[in-house]
Amino acid sequence: MKGSYLLTTLVIALMVFSCNQKTDEGYSMQKKVFGDYDGKEVVLITLKNSEGNTLKLTNYGATIVWIEVPDRDGNMENITFGYETLDEYTNGDPYFGSVVGRYANRIAKGKFILDDIEYNLAINNGMNTLHGGPGGWHSVVWDYEITDNEENIPSVIFRYHSPDMEEGYPGNMVIEVTYQWTDNNEIIIDYNCSTDKKTVLNITNHAYFNLKGAGNGDILDHEVTILASQFTPVDQDLIPFGENIAVEGTPFDFTQSHIVGERIEEDNEQLVLGGGYDHNFVLDNVEEVDAIVYEPKSGRMMEMITDQPGVQLYCGNFLDGTEAGHGGKVYEHRGGLCLETQHFPDSPNQSAFPSSVVEPGSPFKSRTVYRFSVK
Ligand code: GLA
Repeated sequence: MKGSYLLTTLVIALMVFSCNQKTDEGYSMQKKVFGDYDGKEVVLITLKNSEGNTLKLTNYGATIVWIEVPDRDGNMENITFGYETLDEYTNGDPYFGSVVGRYANRIAKGKFILDDIEYNLAINNGMNTLHGGPGGWHSVVWDYEITDNEENIPSVIFRYHSPDMEEGYPGNMVIEVTYQWTDNNEIIIDYNCSTDKKTVLNITNHAYFNLKGAGNGDILDHEVTILASQFTPVDQDLIPFGENIAVEGTPFDFTQSHIVGERIEEDNEQLVLGGGYDHNFVLDNVEEVDAIVYEPKSGRMMEMITDQPGVQLYCGNFLDGTEAGHGGKVYEHRGGLCLETQHFPDSPNQSAFPSSVVEPGSPFKSRTVYRFSVK
């Protein structure tokens, strides 16, 4: 009896964890079935680094589902928004942790001209296109490869083929997004995208962070530093009107650390338009670290490093308390903040902005790092 019980348990365990590697180095990589979507299997992948900290990912949207790191007393907590079921992701979520493309952020009127050809995109944000359109890369099933590469870093490589004219964008694009989860508690994200036709690209990850723990209140008490001397002010549709403005003397000056709540309610036209911070910062790209988020009570700190020209600071202004994630915890208004590394919104229509054009034969390569520690 006991033997058959053990056998059944073993079989179930083998079915659930079709891959379970615990290595001599102390890290581990596992996957289990998360569900089915669009006729394809979706998995939940758990990477543990040698420090015992966890990163969970799914191939639906190449999404970060869970980041569990200690506070200064060693208490573990998940600090990013995510769901327990695939259905909640596929029912349309606010891009919790997902990769966003082919063009993250907004393209005015959902159109742009490239080499005299006008391309019309799927519209999903008033008159405009947001985050690649309704069928963007956050909502597709990616291929995946779980690997500890040559350096023994637990990693996942996600791959997707975006067909020519998908959501209206020209060119077949092959996209590779690699997440490495280092013993230094860094998520290193590498993007590698190539096309067979001239196209535009803006790819990012849309993780929401709350360093007190996802669902543990708002982020107004988080201290933020962004090394950006300028930002791109927006119109009523949150589309930049083409000018970079100095942050100095405005509530957008995060070159010295400020708590998010200090100025977010100020009577400032840009803050009113964004419902708070929802703006692209023009990174100075002078130091190794481009942005720091610190939460004094837990002592958790996140450093962000990127080679991209901009970062969208979004403070969950559109969240209204109707989303609940892991453990049924409610993600309230301003319950999380995003640092979406990017090219500037609407660049395909704004010649003064750094070009977001990708050409055949010159793949786009980019790296963003989120590093977690305590202080
Ligand atoms: C980005 C945008 C926001 C909002 C969120 C998703 O951060 O800038 O305006 O659309 O994504 O809800």
